[in-house]
Amino acid sequence: MRPAGFAAAVAPAGRCPFGPPGSPRPGSPYTRVRLCSPSLFSPALTRTPPAAASSGRRTWPWLASSEGGTGVTRSDPLNMTLFGPPGSGKGTQAGFLVEHFGIPQVSTGDLFRGEIKAGTELGQKVKTYLDRGDLVPDDITLKVVRRRLARPDAGRGALFDGFPRTVGQAAELDRMLDQMGRRMDRVLFVQVPREVLVSRMAGRLTCPRCGRTYHPELAPPRSGGLCDVDGAELVMRDDDRPETARRRITVYLEQTLPVLAHYRQQHVVSDIDGTGSIEEVRGRILRAIDGRRRGDGS
Ligand code: AP5
Ligand code: MG
Repeated sequence: MRPAGFAAAVAPAGRCPFGPPGSPRPGSPYTRVRLCSPSLFSPALTRTPPAAASSGRRTWPWLASSEGGTGVTRSDPLNMTLFGPPGSGKGTQAGFLVEHFGIPQVSTGDLFRGEIKAGTELGQKVKTYLDRGDLVPDDITLKVVRRRLARPDAGRGALFDGFPRTVGQAAELDRMLDQMGRRMDRVLFVQVPREVLVSRMAGRLTCPRCGRTYHPELAPPRSGGLCDVDGAELVMRDDDRPETARRRITVYLEQTLPVLAHYRQQHVVSDIDGTGSIEEVRGRILRAIDGRRRGDGS
């Protein structure tokens, strides 16, 4: 059955809607897509972009009543983290949540890829780590996050995606938020079995301009190989190669999973089942955020 919010789209018969494959770009974290199987593009489902959120000041009364809440209504800003293994759908869900809550996405992976694409000194430094599937050292990562949080839009709060990824980063983020008179409001732990992660990463397409992710079968773009939002040509991430993807999962289990204990102590973790359709996962996340289903693991 077709999930709500999706519309039908049909690829031209026998033609690859992604067009002829291009060549890898030197120094780029991306490779042009090489997808030519018409079976991938038969009647498919595409996402309808969510309505833009209003930019007015907001309050978050539901946070006060959720796990560990004080009963006091809090106002802006709102700080949340999407936490989970590579390919679990953090970026996909972030695209909706930032519009819904009117806060910016702070994805350290996207920030690093932006630096690499721009050819900056920092980009050159971090590229070797991303290419290997290893974590960028904490001092570099924290510098990038500090710089991002200093931008005016982060005054409304932030939706962190793929950050923090080490216990050291989590402790330093606590200090940063504390200095700003804020705290981590909610950590959304998106759980997906390993075999599903690998297949999601193997097919992922990314917009190099806005960072939105697609999948030829699971979340296809409306128009061939172009981003629904800004029309940019979609690309595959170099670190989605099977051997690098496997390394990223191992690094996640060894270095990132321990961060959860840090946040469980703060009673801000919501466990989210990340399997099922994008819409289903989105529903679970929204229910976990508004605290309506506290105590049942969501
Ligand atoms: P980063 O860019 O953060 O990658 P990641 O955490 O490995 O996560 P991904 O972006 O691969 O997956 P995702 O969970 O966003 O999934 P997506 O929504 O795209 O980091 C990359 C690298 O940067 C790291 O390896 C490291 O080197 C460095 N780095 C980043 N942050 C760092 C930090 N804090 N410290 C140190 N180093 C850092 O979905 C995947 C696919 O599945 C898509 O095709 C999507 O369409 C599809 N999909 C999503 N949800 C569903 C669903 N429910 N059903 C079907 N398909 C779905
Ligand atoms: Mg991502």
